[in-house]
Amino acid sequence: MATKALITGSFDPMTMGHLNIIERASGLFDELTVGIIMNPSKKSMFTLEEREDMIKETLSHLGNISVDSFSGLLANYVNANGYNVIVRGLRSSVDFDYELQMAQMNDRLFNDGVETVLLMSDPEYSYISSSVVKEVHSLGGPIQGLVPENIYLRMKEKLAGNK
Ligand code: COA
Repeated sequence: MATKALITGSFDPMTMGHLNIIERASGLFDELTVGIIMNPSKKSMFTLEEREDMIKETLSHLGNISVDSFSGLLANYVNANGYNVIVRGLRSSVDFDYELQMAQMNDRLFNDGVETVLLMSDPEYSYISSSVVKEVHSLGGPIQGLVPENIYLRMKEKLAGNK
């Protein structure tokens, strides 16, 4: 059976940690979609459209990737679009408790045969989160190497109020 995988997150913005997981997942599955979800509990820096544009640019070197955005219940999107694998990255044991709860709840909601697959973060990136990168950047700290170069440039523009 062909594997149609979805990796989810708010990606506001995508970091090198996300990129590492996506590149590895793209080698494991036939098709991989990056699904950007608006997380209403978080104040966002970039609109969904901006995130989609930036991520497409970052991932242009990968052949089997598409990028989409959606809102609402993840399981509805997964079932309606025929995904059979959900990929999530795991940075630490703190992530694990949350991922386990989400995977078990989603398992009740997904169609039969959909599996959640957790990929362990590269230790080089295990301390990164989108919020911590945004905070360091907004206070003038260097964030090169923590986000892809094109995203770093877009963050600089945002901070300067150009976009
Ligand atoms: N490298 C770097 N950072 C990473 C990372 C990695 N490999 N994996 C996660 N992170 C960071 C993210 O950037 C994010 O940082 P932030 O909190 O500073 O924004 C943080 O870790 C948490 O990531 P994640 O758990 O993916 O949260 P999210 O807000 O990006 O996405 C959703 C969560 C939107 C995917 C999830 O809430 C969801 O599926 N919602 C849909 C609604 C739904 O169906 N709810 C019921 C679920 S059972």
